[in-house]
Amino acid sequence: MIQLTQKETMLLKDLKSHEELCISKYNDYASKAQDAQLKDMFNKHAQHEQQHLNTITTILSGQIPNMQQNSGNANNNASSASQNNFTATQSTANSPMDAKLCGDLLMTEKYVSGTYDTSIFEFRDTNIRQALNHIQKEEQQHGEDIFNYMQSKGMYNPQ
Ligand SMILES: [Fe+2]
Ligand SMILES: [Fe+2]
Repeated sequence: MIQLTQKETMLLKDLKSHEELCISKYNDYASKAQDAQLKDMFNKHAQHEQQHLNTITTILSGQIPNMQQNSGNANNNASSASQNNFTATQSTANSPMDAKLCGDLLMTEKYVSGTYDTSIFEFRDTNIRQALNHIQKEEQQHGEDIFNYMQSKGMYNPQ
């Protein structure tokens, strides 16, 4: 058991509410998405966000997350992410609704990733920092998945 500072507790509560919103958004948007490939991606991300919420809840209860177990999950997530080649399917069919959902989630992931980065600097325990860093990496991966999907559908054209 670890005694968290007031600041650590406050930051974790913010992160918890962000994860809850991410779960709710991904589930909601999976039901609204027109493209089946996009639905799959949103459902997969919703599961990751649920794991993030579990980790944050564990830390809030004063327990230090087991990073050895988590790094196993990280490998699984990394391999499943690479198997899931969102750029593979080229399509001209492009729903404005899907583009809007992607744009909103990309902005959400960007914000959440930034919040993890800021929070990490306030924690005294190395294992907690590593757990938060692990989650942040997955948020960046979510952003990359969405970016790649949008690019493959011509929704996002960086110059
Ligand atoms: Fe998350
Ligand atoms: Fe995410």
